[in-house]
Amino acid sequence: MSTLTESLKNALADSYVLYLKTQNYHWNVTGQSFNSLHTMFETQYNDLFAAIDLLAERIRALGEKAPGTFASYSKMATITEGNENSSAQEMVKELAQDQQKIVKTLEKVLSESQKCNDDVTAGIITDRIEIHQKNAWMLNSSL
Ligand SMILES: [Fe+2]
Repeated sequence: MSTLTESLKNALADSYVLYLKTQNYHWNVTGQSFNSLHTMFETQYNDLFAAIDLLAERIRALGEKAPGTFASYSKMATITEGNENSSAQEMVKELAQDQQKIVKTLEKVLSESQKCNDDVTAGIITDRIEIHQKNAWMLNSSL
């Protein structure tokens, strides 16, 4: 297994855990900001749903099997699962930090893809970094 595909698997795991966590918070957020947070979380988990498929299929295109179990994701991810009883404020703060964590994971993939002169992976990952930085800004602005 190459370091590049290994780092891509970590990015897939972080994306899946963040997808589920953002959906959890979409369902369970409460309080005065319910409507705007419920909607913002939905936009973010829909984007992650598409990203998961893109990352998994890139791993396949590079010749390896894409991990597809919660057990493997929880082993590889740097992002931890959500708590549906958190306050709206805690949810937003946590998701903002998680968006920054996933940027770190993706930066590793980017540097590995540059080492391999893999411009296609680098392009996919650069797009992902842009989205997660934007999400971090939006979440932090809601605090
Ligand atoms: Fe919904």
